[in-house]
Amino acid sequence: MQKLSAGMTRTNAAPGEGALQPLVIVIGEGPGAEEDAQGRPFVGRAGQLLDKMLASINLSRNSNCFIANVVKCRPPNNRDPYPEETAACAHFLERQITLLKPRFILAAGRVAAQTLLKTTEPIGKLRGKFKELTVGNMTLPFLATYHPAALLRNEDLKRPAWEDLKLLRSMLDKERTG
Ligand code: URA
Repeated sequence: MQKLSAGMTRTNAAPGEGALQPLVIVIGEGPGAEEDAQGRPFVGRAGQLLDKMLASINLSRNSNCFIANVVKCRPPNNRDPYPEETAACAHFLERQITLLKPRFILAAGRVAAQTLLKTTEPIGKLRGKFKELTVGNMTLPFLATYHPAALLRNEDLKRPAWEDLKLLRSMLDKERTG
């Protein structure tokens, strides 16, 4: 049977939105049902939590963040994106990063972190420390944290996610004060 790809079943692509000269680009996994309906990233329950998390460290898609996803179309039934799908969207995401020139990359969740770092290490190992990610001709500081949907499922992840956010804030402050 033919595999149904996200591009064949989506209602709207949700390529990304936010500030055009962002301090931070936040990269999630891919659109869910609400994002598919609206064509906007992170607008469902997880998105509302993401907005609150960002606001707690003075970040917002309205002023200093751009929000994007590894894949731009909703995988049917919210399954993990297929490797062919992340590969199909990789150039799009790379172009978004090189055009927007953010100062930091924040990966939200396992799929984003593993895809961007090209690894299968668990998110628990990848989060919590700055790494460097080379995209096109830029090398940017990169931090991974838990996906807000994971925080909605498991309260225990809230504390480590908060530690990650504080770490990001301290790096942003360091950069500002030089
Ligand atoms: N989860 C994601 O990873 N991205 C979205 O846009 C929405 C939910």
